[in-house]
Amino acid sequence: MASNFPDRGTSPAAAPGSAAVAGATSLQSVRVWDLPLRLFHWLLVACLIGSFVTIKVGGSWTDWHFRFGYTALTLIVFRILWGFVGPRYARFSSFIFSPAAVFAYLRDAAHAPRTLGHSPIGSFSVFALLAVIGVQACAGLFTSDDISVEGPLARLVSSAAVGRASALHHFNELVILGLVGLHIAAILYYRIARRQSLVKPMIVGDKLVASDAISGMPTPAADSIAVRLRGLGVLAVAIAVVAAAVNWPLF
Ligand code: HEM
Ligand code: HEM
Repeated sequence: MASNFPDRGTSPAAAPGSAAVAGATSLQSVRVWDLPLRLFHWLLVACLIGSFVTIKVGGSWTDWHFRFGYTALTLIVFRILWGFVGPRYARFSSFIFSPAAVFAYLRDAAHAPRTLGHSPIGSFSVFALLAVIGVQACAGLFTSDDISVEGPLARLVSSAAVGRASALHHFNELVILGLVGLHIAAILYYRIARRQSLVKPMIVGDKLVASDAISGMPTPAADSIAVRLRGLGVLAVAIAVVAAAVNWPLF
């Protein structure tokens, strides 16, 4: 379970990687998001935008819809594995909260102690986003427009199953858009109501933590070369899994 303590998000008073002073309180930079996780996040954003734009433009861009879709699926497989073998704040076990903790957080979100990794409600959004994007990419493999384009596995199943996958693929578009909207609204809420920037840590990896919390401060996330190489290994496994699934009809 994740621990709570008063951090300050990021502040212009201090550069990442250094301890700094803002008023009477010094801020300590703590690595929270490892490089593989940050790359995962921003590549996933690029893939989702790419998938939406290319399928709406259509024509020869449909090939790119498939490529973005396969890449999104690979990233989701990577993230699931990374949730078990990644550094502490990337691990699912660090942001699984009891329903009571989620309700307690929701009851008084404005005053709830800040968390270093995902907050109770943030964790809900993480699992929901990973699930709906994973479902979307898997459904895409069986989707067909009944004219000229179909996913690589559509021919392996009945036309009724293809119809259900296609309906899911279309309907899920709205679910994804809704969740991404909520995700961005939540980030704006933290920025405006709680004066906490979550975006900069997701880019540079570090959060600034008030020194008066240091006694209870958790260990920073490991983000060494070894961790990054492990990330590459996990990515290779994810690529192999998706390549095997996509090329299944050839086996
Ligand atoms: C997370 C990744 C994906 C997203 C966000 C996504 C999104 C979408 C959306 C929004 C549409 C509907 C466009 C419209 O209504 O005009 C669509 C259609 C389609 N997608 Fe995906 N898709 C993804 C992955 C995939 C994958 C992996 C495949 C197959 C390899 C795929 C195959 C198709 C096909 C064949 C259509 C056309 C269906 C039709 O026009 O009836 N998609 N996708
Ligand atoms: C297609 C759009 C997006 C998707 C699918 C998406 C997905 C996700 C996912 C899955 C996570 C969890 C990270 C993890 O632990 O694996 C996450 C976290 C995060 N995302 Fe996004 N994201 C999107 C857009 C954005 C945008 C536009 C921003 C910035 C304005 C953003 C900022 C963040 C931040 C700051 C976090 C960390 C939240 C925290 O501290 O708990 N995301 N996002």
